[in-house]
Amino acid sequence: MVPSSASILHACFLLLFWSDRLYANVNECYSSIISFGDSIADTGNLKKLDSISDVWFPCPTPYGQNFIGQTTGRCTNGRLIIDFLAESLGLPLVQPYLRAKGSGGGASLRQGVNYAVVGATALDSSFLEAKWHNYPMVNTSLEVQLSWFKQSLPSICGNTSDCRNFIGRSLILLGHIGGNDYNLPFSEGKKIDEIKPYVTLVIKVIISVLNELIAMGARSLVVPGNFPVGCFPSVLTVYESHNEEYDPITGCLTKFNEFAEYHNTMLQAKLNQIRELNPNVVIMYADYYNSLMQIYNSPHEYGFTKKGTLNACCGCGEQYNFNMTRICGGECFNICDEPDTYVSWDGMHFTEATYKSMFKSLFQGPYITPEFYSQCPTKPISQVGITLSKSI
Ligand SMILES: *[C@@H]1O[C@H](CO)[C@@H](O)[C@H](O)[C@H]1NC(C)=O
Ligand SMILES: *[C@@H]1O[C@H](CO)[C@@H](O)[C@H](O)[C@H]1NC(C)=O
Ligand SMILES: *[C@@H]1O[C@H](CO)[C@@H](O)[C@H](O)[C@H]1NC(C)=O
Repeated sequence: MVPSSASILHACFLLLFWSDRLYANVNECYSSIISFGDSIADTGNLKKLDSISDVWFPCPTPYGQNFIGQTTGRCTNGRLIIDFLAESLGLPLVQPYLRAKGSGGGASLRQGVNYAVVGATALDSSFLEAKWHNYPMVNTSLEVQLSWFKQSLPSICGNTSDCRNFIGRSLILLGHIGGNDYNLPFSEGKKIDEIKPYVTLVIKVIISVLNELIAMGARSLVVPGNFPVGCFPSVLTVYESHNEEYDPITGCLTKFNEFAEYHNTMLQAKLNQIRELNPNVVIMYADYYNSLMQIYNSPHEYGFTKKGTLNACCGCGEQYNFNMTRICGGECFNICDEPDTYVSWDGMHFTEATYKSMFKSLFQGPYITPEFYSQCPTKPISQVGITLSKSI
């Protein structure tokens, strides 16, 4: 029997309807993503600032080379964790606030808005400038991002009670933030003991912003910890001659990783306190540290080569392929052949392959507590990339 065109049409319609329903189910977890943080999550805010002021944007082409072939405002060769997350929740790519604001689009931010900025710190930038005073910093700290959020709410969601609902139905990503507070002094070769006292201050800001968001109606938040910074090509290069101790298995700098764990332990203790005080709010800790350590411990299992584990893909240096005065995209266009086999893209930021692997172990695996997928099952992410829309 030859199927009639009507029955084919019917079958197609059913298929469409069915996939639409799957989509809808996934979508029902959260109606939007609201993001704060630094270069690990910025999808274009600093790039926008660069185009309207004299701020320097450090991630030009070849950044973005494996996404749309040119810089997108993301400090990686492709997509970030937040891009994979949006796709897997059936939401559009999360719009950078400063760009959308420029084009007048409050309504376009209803399904996602990103306040994260490359280089952002938890602590106030003028405070850090006064402390380490070497170069002017951009005024984009976590509190500043929160103030942008408050300013933009009426245009996104209307009056206070509607906005409370909007915030309550959103998934809020509070970070990654705080890494730059430490990376700045690290990049100058400062001693860990000098930097350690700042951990309490950094966490205090994160917790204060977390409490404000909860008071504004937040019900679901993801708070990431710090990375194993002792495995960064940048840190490995700066401290190469300092007679530091290396982990025999990974080749990472032991004390710097311990420092990150110190931050993470303190952060988690504070999160536990907030959870007890707010039993109706889901506060998820994202274990960025161990999600990456599993890669450093067995890189081959995740598709990374030995060379690609501690060397930057894009860089002009000797050991670790990193040189602070000749960074990727600045004076250096020396790019590895297979970025997907490298953990680090430029010595300070990761490749898309690493972010994809982290996304899976965090949002579809065990590295978020309580587990994310038991709160909200996500769609598998596509192999070839998402439909590219004007939202890039
Ligand atoms: C930083 O930005 C915030 C929020 O826009 C503003 O209140 C503050 O005055 C700014 N600080 C500096 C030093 O420009
Ligand atoms: C907020 O706006 C909605 C319409 O979007 C309206 O129904 C509601 O009454 C308003 N609430 C207050 C407190 O003004
Ligand atoms: C970094 O590059 C500069 C300029 O080419 C060079 O003088 C310096 O020796 C390099 N540093 C390292 C650690 O390779």
